[in-house]
Amino acid sequence: MSSDTGPTGGSIDTVGSEGPHDGEQESGGAGGDDEVSDLPLAPYPPNLGNPKLHALRQVRDPIAFSDRAAAIRDVYRIWLPGIGDITNLAHPDHMKRVLLTERGKFRKSEDFGIAFGDGLLTVEGEEWAQQRKTLQPLFVRESVMDHADTMVEQAQRRVGRWEGGQQLDLQAEMTDLTLDVLFAAILGRELELDGDEKIRRSAEALHDWFLPTSYPLPRWLPTPARRRFKQGKQTLQDEADRLLEEAARDPPSDPTEADDLINLLVGLRAAGVTDSGMLTDERLRDQMVSIIFAGHDTTTTSLTFALWALAEHPDIRERFHAEVDALDGPPTAEDIEEGRLAFTDKLVTETLRLFPPVYALPRVADEDVQFDGYRVPEGERVGVIIRRIQRDPRFFDRPDTFDPDRWTPEFRQELHDFAYAPFGGGPRICIGRQFALLEAKLSLATIGRNYELYYLGEEGKHDGPPLSPQMTLRMKEGQEFLVTER
Ligand code: HEM
Repeated sequence: MSSDTGPTGGSIDTVGSEGPHDGEQESGGAGGDDEVSDLPLAPYPPNLGNPKLHALRQVRDPIAFSDRAAAIRDVYRIWLPGIGDITNLAHPDHMKRVLLTERGKFRKSEDFGIAFGDGLLTVEGEEWAQQRKTLQPLFVRESVMDHADTMVEQAQRRVGRWEGGQQLDLQAEMTDLTLDVLFAAILGRELELDGDEKIRRSAEALHDWFLPTSYPLPRWLPTPARRRFKQGKQTLQDEADRLLEEAARDPPSDPTEADDLINLLVGLRAAGVTDSGMLTDERLRDQMVSIIFAGHDTTTTSLTFALWALAEHPDIRERFHAEVDALDGPPTAEDIEEGRLAFTDKLVTETLRLFPPVYALPRVADEDVQFDGYRVPEGERVGVIIRRIQRDPRFFDRPDTFDPDRWTPEFRQELHDFAYAPFGGGPRICIGRQFALLEAKLSLATIGRNYELYYLGEEGKHDGPPLSPQMTLRMKEGQEFLVTER
């Protein structure tokens, strides 16, 4: 497995399921349907009290909740008001079944569809296959590499204004940077450095649909968060319409040559391609809003946690600075291809292990299935707890320690192919992973050549800064960093 491809399901398992942590569970192996329906439902974690109180514990500290539950077993249920039972899975074998070998038995949960309509993130079946095939050329390695200069320019433009002695809300700053990059590279429109506030706020508001406090409430209830979401989505849809209209005046003659999403979609339309099932006005809008949602907050949190890790580990920081100082100038695609940012690569890999932005993957069982001898009934939600899996001592020594050096070629080779999967796996693995990794490495190198950051905030309870797990795993708001110039 390599850090920039992630698991796609081809490699051989070297570590199998070791079953329960406490020796209670039997391994799976149910045969026919009758056998499956006779199996017990997965138990609620006994150390987390009455299931009806799970919601309170979850909302208070979802990370501690899943840490305690998964320490006992790899399969457990929790109960949340407004949702009901969820079977959580914390073993890479289970993740592999859900995402790859038995993926036909699971579908994505409807929440994303309600929020984002019919973009790549949400659609299923033949329509998904069409959309993925259509968008894939934009995200293959060589297309992504073409954006390297834009990524560095955007990073230089934003961080070039930092001054020694300045205190930064790093998460806010990285949010602005990832939006700058996403718009410039994928949407073909440069955002104003100190402007376009409405667009920036709207992109952030897309997450308000998923606030944990909204789950128990009926979907039709217009809470303030849902109103913010609706307004934000409308603003981004209007912007999508404007960009599409503008591009349609001069569409590319060959859409396969298009280097951004807008020109690709407009070019396909102009070329009379009608069978891709994604070229109605509504579908185009859904696509763009989905990409804005999927493509910025994830990279923001990766960058923020990587910079936290550098701030907190002076020895690692020193080696990182030595690597970026040895470059001939601002980082380039060639520096990456020729291995001159090898340590930065490991740094990013390890950050995504300890702080996976998508820390749990939601699915719904389309039929009765079993995990470790427990039944998940058809229609029940399933959560694959990526963060737990990536900190499992059965796969990682000193699992809570930030250690980029663990990522030797031998270790990668021997690791279970689903023990490290920050981008998911199987056919629905993140389409933007090459883009995200390139952006993370180039942004870190751009920052590291000029600045050193010190973390001024408090330590959290989970071997890192205080967390705010929402749809993505974020650092709690307002964590300040001190900038020093190098
Ligand atoms: C560090 C950054 C990122 C992380 C950790 C990440 C993580 C993920 C994960 C775990 C999935 C699988 C979701 C599932 O199976 O339910 C996914 C899917 C997806 N991601 Fe990313 N992502 C990142 C960056 C990006 C970027 C930069 C883009 C676009 C520019 C993007 C676009 C997408 C899309 C469209 C999908 C749906 C793919 C499909 O279903 O075929 N992501 N991402």
